[in-house]
Amino acid sequence: MTAADDQPLLVAEGLSKWYGRQLGCRAVSLDLYQGEVLAIVGESGSGKSTLLQLLSSQLEPSAGRVLYRMRDGVTRDLAQLGEAERRFLFRTDWGYVHQEPIRGLRMTVSAGANVGERLMAVGQRHYGNIRDTATDWLDRVEIDRSRIDDAPTTYSGGMRQRLQIARNLVTEPRLVFMDEPTGGLDVSVQARLLDLLRGLVADLGLAAIVVTHDLAVARLLSHRIMVMKDGETIESGLTDQVLDDPREPYTQLLVSSILPP
Ligand SMILES: Nc1ncnc2c1ncn2[C@@H]1O[C@H](COP(=O)(O)OP(=O)(O)OP(=O)(O)O)[C@@H](O)[C@H]1O
Ligand SMILES: [Mg+2]
Repeated sequence: MTAADDQPLLVAEGLSKWYGRQLGCRAVSLDLYQGEVLAIVGESGSGKSTLLQLLSSQLEPSAGRVLYRMRDGVTRDLAQLGEAERRFLFRTDWGYVHQEPIRGLRMTVSAGANVGERLMAVGQRHYGNIRDTATDWLDRVEIDRSRIDDAPTTYSGGMRQRLQIARNLVTEPRLVFMDEPTGGLDVSVQARLLDLLRGLVADLGLAAIVVTHDLAVARLLSHRIMVMKDGETIESGLTDQVLDDPREPYTQLLVSSILPP
């Protein structure tokens, strides 16, 4: 453990985003530590995806900034990074699980290649090792290894989402952004995927920011939670505390309408 380990991995300060005159989110601040999972919850249109894209520097903020502690321990303002540095972060330090698996996969190459090319991007060259690691990861996400040479076009929705997760986690990133990772899946598939995600996050000790409109997902996966409404943070804190004893009327409504009593 170095001195930098007690510093946050990521800090957002006063993030706002306007799409022209339409507000995306306003004055959002947060911090995230290594190994911590933060859930961002809120109703449709509350600004969750906007915020995730700002945090992962895929969208430029109208105001505010995002600081990130690089592997060398130096904290950098993401807006100050060059394009090459930003791409390097995405290849090595970060994963991004899209709500739509087709946005996060290469649909026409094999599942093995989808996982393997991430390894090649971080410098692995040995074909046998890459294939072994890819096979191991298909096992971990419970995809039958006999499907390794099939393209994701031949996969079901749940299998695609699990493949996307394998592709993102194989390089053991330090931080993973997930936008509705279990959205659009049926309930039994969702439950297994959540179990799987929870195990992987704990095993790898990675930090994650998970956007979901599903409080049960937040409860299962996250240590801390942030509730958004109309682009602003309404309430935040430890997940169990916020969900068991919400202070804000809006959060109380959200909790009582979705979770069983
Ligand atoms: N490209 C865009 N152009 C204009 N307005 C946008 C754009 N993207 C998002 N918005 C607006 O910003 C606000 C927040 O949208 P955002 O997609 O972040 O919400 P969300 O919480 O992710 O919703 P959902 O749960 O439906 O995915 C909404 O009012 C939306 O209409
Ligand atoms: Mg969204």
